[in-house]
Amino acid sequence: MTKLLENKVALVTGAGSGIGQAIAYQLAAEGARVVVSDINDRAGTETVARMKDLGHAAIFVRADTAKPADHEALVAAAVKAFGGLDIAVNNAGIGGPSAPVGEYPLDGWDKVIAVNLNGVFYGMRYQIPAMLPRGGGSVINIASVLGQVGFRSSSAYVAAKHGVVGLTRSAALEYGPQKVRVNAVGPGFIRTPLLEKNLSPEAITHLEGMHALGRLGESQEIAELVTWLATERASFVTGAYYAADGGYLAQ
Ligand SMILES: NC(=O)c1ccc[n+]([C@@H]2O[C@H](COP(=O)([O-])OP(=O)(O)OC[C@H]3O[C@@H](n4cnc5c(N)ncnc54)[C@H](O)[C@@H]3O)[C@@H](O)[C@H]2O)c1
Repeated sequence: MTKLLENKVALVTGAGSGIGQAIAYQLAAEGARVVVSDINDRAGTETVARMKDLGHAAIFVRADTAKPADHEALVAAAVKAFGGLDIAVNNAGIGGPSAPVGEYPLDGWDKVIAVNLNGVFYGMRYQIPAMLPRGGGSVINIASVLGQVGFRSSSAYVAAKHGVVGLTRSAALEYGPQKVRVNAVGPGFIRTPLLEKNLSPEAITHLEGMHALGRLGESQEIAELVTWLATERASFVTGAYYAADGGYLAQ
């Protein structure tokens, strides 16, 4: 049976860990050739090694998503290795400091905006022009439930993720005629190193209770939605925010 993403080329930022890694595995399982990108060389290289063991075509390219030149080089590397670009998943993100707005560390604000918001803009700035000669493509930006509602002590993260949703809608309007679909995915709280690094076990139990399903999500559950958006099965879907949040936003 033909796989859904046979002959497609995908790139995923922050693919050395958590949600991005699950997305890279899933896109490859559907037949895409995947450029795994991360700021962490070891995590990225190990991810690619595992993908190759499974028989998938994948390369690792180091890129810091806060740097425009890194995105430019990343897209060029995808085109050089695999002949073009069809799918881009802007996933890399950080949690940032935890403090109320009146005490929020200024450098922490700049860093979170640089990675979580500027990084998505820089990504699309170089990814979309590479998709146009292919006659279209699919961009999936990883936002968050915190791209829709506030959260105490996480103003930079919340502002960046709201920004990602607006940026997604604008790009979808601009590039719809050229068949580049641009969507945002909003995970609820997902059990990944990002979460486990930043939160106590008590805080995690509290968060579980905020989801209608009474648990955190798994990276694979986000990868399923992202993969669907990447395929032609989602051919009439653009400019949308899709939640995969266990019911977090239902109240
Ligand atoms: N875990 C959650 O609960 C959750 C919920 C909603 C949204 N998200 C979003 O999902 C995305 C992935 O999060 P995760 O939980 O898998 O995190 P993670 O920490 O497990 O993985 C993030 C990866 O991004 C990489 N990275 C960090 N800064 C980078 C940079 N400047 N350039 C390139 N790579 C960089 C890290 O090295 C890491 O491999 C993020 O955008 C995050 O905001 C996560």
